[in-house]
Amino acid sequence: MTHPADFWNPKFETEEYIFGTEANSFIKAAIPPARAGQTAYAPADGEGRNGVYLAEIGYQVTTTDIADKAVAKAKALAQSRGVSIHAMVGDIMADPPGQFDVVIVSFMHFRPDDHRHFVAHLHKALAPGGLLAFEGYSLDQIPLTSGGPKSPDMLYTREQIESDFADLDILLIQDAKRRLNEGPRHQGEAATIQLIARKGHGQ
Ligand SMILES: C[S@@+](CC[C@H](N)C(=O)[O-])C[C@H]1O[C@@H](n2cnc3c(N)ncnc32)[C@H](O)[C@@H]1O
Repeated sequence: MTHPADFWNPKFETEEYIFGTEANSFIKAAIPPARAGQTAYAPADGEGRNGVYLAEIGYQVTTTDIADKAVAKAKALAQSRGVSIHAMVGDIMADPPGQFDVVIVSFMHFRPDDHRHFVAHLHKALAPGGLLAFEGYSLDQIPLTSGGPKSPDMLYTREQIESDFADLDILLIQDAKRRLNEGPRHQGEAATIQLIARKGHGQ
């Protein structure tokens, strides 16, 4: 099977930011500005658009991605916007690089076994009291052309996401129909599942 870095690196070998340089607009709406010293983690953040935004609103940010070409572009984006992020190569199949006050997920889709590892990774990455914002394509995305995989087992339903994060305090979960304008690969009408949830202080 192709290693994900070998699949993704060639896509990032262009000067263009293929998912744009603006953060996912749901993440922007979901995450409040940081209080002093708060940390945020954007796993598989690609070229860094979400991590850079979180740094701009005051978080101490760690981003990872499996593709080193994407990580290099994330570092360059942070520099061009005058913020600092800790961007590193990392695999969401491994343990997260710590626990964080905020964790965000933007358009990450895996086969079921890997998805289970990803969900465990996210739970571990949340500090007690930590906030998770998650958006991914739903099954309704299949006929649409604004991005994402076409295999039904890689797309989300509200019930699945609700069950994956049932241990958290779910503040919002919804099916969304919205327009994406995020670089050349995410354009047009999209169908997504959006989640905002908080880990209990005792967890
Ligand atoms: C659809 S892109 C989304 C990028 C970013 N989250 C965004 O919204 O702009 C998927 C990203 O996941 C990364 N990726 C795929 N498998 C991964 C893994 N096992 N661990 C870490 N990153 C991975 C890819 O390199 C790519 O940057």
